[in-house]
Amino acid sequence: MAELDKKDEPARNAVDETPNVTAVNTVEARSEAEAVVALDAPVDRGEPILQVRNLVKHFPLTQGILFKRQVGAVKAVDGISFDLYQGETLGIVGESGCGKSTVAKLLMMLERATAGEVFYKGQDITKLSGRALKAVRRNIQMVFQDPYTSLNPRMTVGDIIGETFEIHPEVAPKGDRRRKVQELLDVVGLNPEYINRYPHQFSGGQRQRIGIARGLALNPEIIICDEPVSALDVSVQAQVINLMEKLQDEFDLSYVFIAHDLSIVRHISDRVGVMYLGKMVEIGSDEEIYDHPTHPYTQALLSAVPVPDPEAREGRERIILSGDVPSPANPPSGCRFRTRCWKAQDKCATEVPLLAVPERFKDTDSPVAHESACHFAEEKDVVHAA
Ligand SMILES: Nc1ncnc2c1ncn2[C@@H]1O[C@H](COP(=O)(O)OP(=O)(O)O)[C@@H](O)[C@H]1O
Ligand code: SF4
Ligand SMILES: [Mg+2]
Repeated sequence: MAELDKKDEPARNAVDETPNVTAVNTVEARSEAEAVVALDAPVDRGEPILQVRNLVKHFPLTQGILFKRQVGAVKAVDGISFDLYQGETLGIVGESGCGKSTVAKLLMMLERATAGEVFYKGQDITKLSGRALKAVRRNIQMVFQDPYTSLNPRMTVGDIIGETFEIHPEVAPKGDRRRKVQELLDVVGLNPEYINRYPHQFSGGQRQRIGIARGLALNPEIIICDEPVSALDVSVQAQVINLMEKLQDEFDLSYVFIAHDLSIVRHISDRVGVMYLGKMVEIGSDEEIYDHPTHPYTQALLSAVPVPDPEAREGRERIILSGDVPSPANPPSGCRFRTRCWKAQDKCATEVPLLAVPERFKDTDSPVAHESACHFAEEKDVVHAA
């Protein structure tokens, strides 16, 4: 059996996992050049491929064994709106427990929304079921966080990737599946001959490549990536991100790329949204968020991002947030961030700040004029502060 013949080979030899620093630098250089162009020309993004409107997911908290009654709700996602444009990467960032994975599951229809809409090409997919939902699902796929647990250890790589064709046989007829899976392995940089191997015979980075191949199998338009590199070594993270960028260009994919760390999404994102306790608190282009953040929470997150330049590192101000993230079952009134915000005032406890371009910045062309959910939004140079 081919599978047994291959077992003697070392599992890690299919892909060279040494960090590809040049590739990342090139990406950085390219995005800097693009940023300059972007400042000069207004960005025409066309129509959004996905429009999320007031999306809510409350998980009921129940008490009692025989007669369960609801005593509250975990407000995991509590009224989130954003757009995803064709061919772009929208990064979504926030601390663990702020609702990122729940957003991902809602977009994939793996969880039903408590309220709100998700429009895919203008159609509200939260109301779909049966065949109509299945047809949409083909176009929206997911890459999961942990390549160690998201691949069934008892299935071969060929069966893991080929499984998707059982649900959508129209994409690859039975006789053509093996060839199609081998093609996908090749596309993600794995040796097509490894089709009969099991997940444990691959390294972490290679396993995530298998997860990406599975996500690509149905030729989707959108891929929701839930912390796809968080479980990987730093050196391998750069390679997987480079691969995802390459695939995006090749297959004209739109990505929602979730991470808990602002530094990871910077390389890949065109725009970034920052979440806190079930809310989106700031959203903008990567330049607006990284160089001109106006929400205190984003500023605090950015102040913790490692800075390679020693001079900038010395001059910058590190913002340490006091207290823990409050429970999403009982979030603070008004602004949810107020219990940890150094700028909080009375108004913050009584009025919910809406995610919008602050009134006083509205008529400026400045990059501070982007959406921020803070009554007192203002710029603070956390990285270059002297
Ligand atoms: N199925 C569920 N039932 C109850 N609570 C849940 C469920 N899934 C997630 N939560 C809660 O919702 C909140 C957000 O979780 P999650 O979306 O996983 O956050 P993140 O991905 O940002 O870490 C957390 O408080 C989590 O405990
Ligand atoms: S609204 Fe108030 S508490 Fe909330 S982030 Fe702004 S200043 Fe801080
Ligand atoms: Mg998560």
